[in-house]
Amino acid sequence: MDIRKKPDLTLARKRSKTPTMTIEYDQNNEIQNLGLGKKYLIQTHGCQANEADTEILRAMIEEQKFTLTDKVEEADLILINTCAVRETAENKVFGELGRLKSLKKVNPDMILVVAGCMSQEEATIERILTKYKHVDIVLGTHNIPEFIHYLHYVMTERKQMIEVISQEGSITEHLPHARDSRFKAWVNIMYGCDEFCTYCIVPYTRGKERSRRKEYILNEVKALIEKGYQEITLLGQNVNSYGLDFEEGNYDFSDLLSDLAQTGISRIRFTTSHPKDFSDSLIDVIAKYENVMPHIHLPVQSGSDTVLKKMNRKYTKEQYLDLVHRIYEKIPNASITTDIIVGFPTETEHDFLETMDLVTKARFEGAYTFVYSPRKGTPAAMYETTVSKQEAKDRLHRLNELVNEGYLKGNMRFEGQNVKVLIEGKSKTKEDVYSGYTENNKLVNVKCSDQEIGNIVLVHITKAKTWSLDGELVRS
Ligand code: 5AD
Ligand code: SF4
Repeated sequence: MDIRKKPDLTLARKRSKTPTMTIEYDQNNEIQNLGLGKKYLIQTHGCQANEADTEILRAMIEEQKFTLTDKVEEADLILINTCAVRETAENKVFGELGRLKSLKKVNPDMILVVAGCMSQEEATIERILTKYKHVDIVLGTHNIPEFIHYLHYVMTERKQMIEVISQEGSITEHLPHARDSRFKAWVNIMYGCDEFCTYCIVPYTRGKERSRRKEYILNEVKALIEKGYQEITLLGQNVNSYGLDFEEGNYDFSDLLSDLAQTGISRIRFTTSHPKDFSDSLIDVIAKYENVMPHIHLPVQSGSDTVLKKMNRKYTKEQYLDLVHRIYEKIPNASITTDIIVGFPTETEHDFLETMDLVTKARFEGAYTFVYSPRKGTPAAMYETTVSKQEAKDRLHRLNELVNEGYLKGNMRFEGQNVKVLIEGKSKTKEDVYSGYTENNKLVNVKCSDQEIGNIVLVHITKAKTWSLDGELVRS
């Protein structure tokens, strides 16, 4: 095993004022055809940042002439792009690595790669070195652009290797993308996170907050428009702090959004927003442009001021609700969704009821809800907890019932209306039924044809259910 660099949480925690370096992607022209006659498979866990990274890795792998397979038994290269945000996500990956051990015995030439956020954790590396010695390459989130060099090394030298960099991070431009969709695209606008919410591992696994220069983003979006893309989703752990790291300091997320809206792309979405940085000028931009979608994902995490403080979220319940109301005032049609954690150390029943109260008052139309999962190296992992596993599960259940009412109410308001839907493909369950999303990000099932895939069509909503809407195509 060639251990070049292991992750270091102490280094990963550091933040300096050094400006972010922008590097051009090295095309790896000296390495070619590594995958001629070979097949690959990528498993992606976690958030949209990982999905976007997978599209880059996929492009790099396909440039080497590997072809895609969906069968692990057939694959010569298996890459697992991992998520470290909760223990359940990590257990899934270790389970998969365990299963792949026997495959590796049958096919010793198969190359197994672990990438993504888990690689950035010290504990993962120790576990791989002791229990999962069949892994060939471990790389982290900062050295994705180097992947082909690692692959070449492992294939020619027949060695295993680990290289995980715990630096603050730079930005690589002109990376290739093998996009999953022909009409919807992820566009990274920034990387990393400087918030250090006390429960969260992301600032350690993805480095310091660093924004891409607007010229690169605008050029990427213009190229997507030329290729016929209808929708972009701007990605960042906290898109509202876009540009705050620029030395000039005079161009923020609302400016970027406004410039992107003027490119004329049909739909712009963005995620994730931190409530503390959500400015009134941003609300104005969303309200002003028809192609900025009226769906705002605004993680609140808790409705209790005591818990919010312990989480280091930097706002109170009242400030959050005030923001939500300012959004509804200027964008009356807005759908707001959120993320909530229950069972944070010391969360009392009273704290939890504050969360339930906030959910009702904020009129959320959806929420990702989680039981708190301690992450080694984060401050909250050292907090003593008074919440039993059963209590946390019970709170999650009660919260989900309330959240589901919000989903249904949010869908009900479209019954009888005509809405615009970007048709994505055939529905998974019914023949000749197609599905897509409305501007408010509601899933719609509608009878139409292959011809509509990738188009924005007008649909009359006939029935609202908790998770989706049924509708009929409006012929013009
Ligand atoms: N435990 C549970 N949920 C977490 N999240 C982040 N860290 C943890 C953790 N340690 C949730 C937050 C965040 C979402 C992406 O994952 O709600 O917004
Ligand atoms: Fe994690 Fe908080 Fe950063 Fe979101 S804002 S990635 S929850 S530290």
